[in-house]
Amino acid sequence: VTVDVDPAAYEAGDHESFMHKEMLEQPAAAARALSGRLDERFGTAHLGGLNMDARETRAIRRVKILGCGSAYYVGQMGAALVEELARIPADAEAASEFRYRDPVIEADTLYVAVSQSGETIDTLLAVQEIRRKGGRVVGLVNVVGSAIARECDGGIYLHAGPEVAVASTKALTNMFLGFALLALQLGRVRDLSIADGRRLINGLTRIPAQIQEILDDEAAIAAVAEQLSEAESVFFVGRVRGFPVAREGAQKFKEISYRHAEAYQTSELKHGPLALISPAVPTVAIVPDDELTDRNVGALHEIAARRGPLVVITHEGVDLGEVDCVRIDVPRNERELDPVLLVVPLQLLAFHAAQRLGHDIDKPRNLAKSVTVE
Ligand code: AGP
Repeated sequence: VTVDVDPAAYEAGDHESFMHKEMLEQPAAAARALSGRLDERFGTAHLGGLNMDARETRAIRRVKILGCGSAYYVGQMGAALVEELARIPADAEAASEFRYRDPVIEADTLYVAVSQSGETIDTLLAVQEIRRKGGRVVGLVNVVGSAIARECDGGIYLHAGPEVAVASTKALTNMFLGFALLALQLGRVRDLSIADGRRLINGLTRIPAQIQEILDDEAAIAAVAEQLSEAESVFFVGRVRGFPVAREGAQKFKEISYRHAEAYQTSELKHGPLALISPAVPTVAIVPDDELTDRNVGALHEIAARRGPLVVITHEGVDLGEVDCVRIDVPRNERELDPVLLVVPLQLLAFHAAQRLGHDIDKPRNLAKSVTVE
């Protein structure tokens, strides 16, 4: 696969910001991430850059994902994919914390470093710590030839093209797709059936067009963002697959709108955060059509009973009861792949809230695109 974008020629063009351009590039970027990597015949993915044969792949007993900020949150989505599709215990950890706890490095664990820039110092030092102790690390990296890409034993390039805005969008989408491909390949050398493999391939191939469908709703989502921009504090809630989506939504919102935004597991609301719900504190709730829909809808009623304004990111046909809310529907796909679609409206909400507030979208205060010093 080649990246058909010349970094030197990359400009915002007619867009008011690079972030806007990069959000709208997601369908094309997602198609590039998948191009040449799906094997319909065997219901699997081909990731030659991992540099692992089938025997080594089968020997993996655990997957540990390391990244910072949004890359860490997508890492959490990736860990869920690995557990669901490959049935290998997996988790994600903030790379910035990892080396400070003198981590135990296991020979049968596959370590995955995830980074857009490939230059984030905390992620790079985590990779070096693992390799120093004899562990195997693969990278999910966007920038070809970057420091992290060079340090890893193998990897999956994201092929998102250049990303300039501090708030990452298309690189994150492609990180998710990279994890889906990895989980598919790990799953197919284990117990994931060929039928399930093909089901997921079918889902993956629909994603670029489905992202486009969400982007086509930009004007309606911008109107919701205007309302949210007036709040001093916004909650983002989700459960299981939806929780890292909520974390990423809060991250994007606080990064560029400078509003206080906090993510919680919906199930944790009653253990504390519910005390803060009021007409002044809106909640953006992730309520996909999945095993937890009824419980999520129950929580919406708890929030509404405290007169908390609600924005619900959900699927068409999900019955939210009589609850008073603004609803944003995203297209349906395979449940395992839902997060990559649920997160797109959250990018648009953050972008339009920040624009409404008159902020510098591409260069938010106090933040750098790539954090290369400790
Ligand atoms: C994303 O919007 C943020 N700017 C930030 O959290 C970023 O994801 C993080 O600093 C990691 O960067 P990387 O992917 O280049 O390693």
